[in-house]
Amino acid sequence: MKERISEIRETMTKELLGATSTQNLEDIRVRLLGKKGELTALLRGMGQLSPEERPQAGQMINEARAKLTEMLETKAEEIKKKERAEALKRETIDVTQPAELPQIGSAHPINMVMDELIECFTGMGFEVLEGPEVELDHYNFELMNIPKNHPARDAQDTFYVDDNIVLRTHTSPMQARAMLSRKPPIRVICPGRVYRADEVDATHSPVFHQMEGLVVDKDVNMADLRGTLNAFAEKLYGKGITTRFRPSFFPFTEPSTEVDLTCSSCHGKGCRICKGTGWIEVLGGGMVNPKVLEMCGIDSSVYSGFAFGIGLERITMLRYGISDMRLLYEGDVRFLSQFRK
Ligand code: PHE
Repeated sequence: MKERISEIRETMTKELLGATSTQNLEDIRVRLLGKKGELTALLRGMGQLSPEERPQAGQMINEARAKLTEMLETKAEEIKKKERAEALKRETIDVTQPAELPQIGSAHPINMVMDELIECFTGMGFEVLEGPEVELDHYNFELMNIPKNHPARDAQDTFYVDDNIVLRTHTSPMQARAMLSRKPPIRVICPGRVYRADEVDATHSPVFHQMEGLVVDKDVNMADLRGTLNAFAEKLYGKGITTRFRPSFFPFTEPSTEVDLTCSSCHGKGCRICKGTGWIEVLGGGMVNPKVLEMCGIDSSVYSGFAFGIGLERITMLRYGISDMRLLYEGDVRFLSQFRK
């Protein structure tokens, strides 16, 4: 019995000292003190000893157990320390490694163009004015000299909310709102969404964007409109880009003009984009119809004004070579992320 005990003490001590991991140690503990462990077996075997031998054997076993348990604990502590140090070494963070960049959004190309236009016109002294997209028929049509039976009111073009309310079909009602809310001199631009009952295709959408411009003062004439738009064309597209006025008709301007810009991709030589003409149509404008001035409370014998409406989709598409308008509305991040400034 004695020999067996010191044999166990010896081998276990050796094994304990050689243990290198927590798992190692746990295996040793089970083999020694577990239910089927060697010391446990010895304790059970005590029944076969003579009553005289028992106390001494018991004492020896208990001593061995205490000693080995103590060694186990010391070793466990030691191994844990070592393992922690190793883990720390393994898991150190390399602070010089480049970080993963967070995904950031990008401005929508229409907004980018809108911001540029706003900067250009505010630089010339214009004020930015925004108004409702759900608009009274009165502003959208009546004050714009578009009477009840005018074809532009056709339900095929206009989204009616009810008999008196529409989704604005252009930003021109802002002309009326500007004139009714302030006195000349008036210089405003009004960017925003407009709505028309169009089928979606590469060049049409039921929702699109315009920017209205309005100037009302004494002695304002068509040459002022031309000068303002030429300045805008150069500022936006660079030197050598100018405007061409073609006669047109709008109920709210008289005379009215369709305005083309020099094609910015061929500089007027003629290319695929301008269909060989060297010009690209981007806006409508004219002298504010005196009838409109009067309806909006401005004395047309003292004041005159010019107005223009720029199509933002068209400018944006030309600017970035976008061939299909639908790309502007689908919100595909692969498309949009190309416009990061
Ligand atoms: N409102 C016109 C349109 O939507 C554009 C325009 C604005 C024309 C101002 C003349 C003056 O087509």
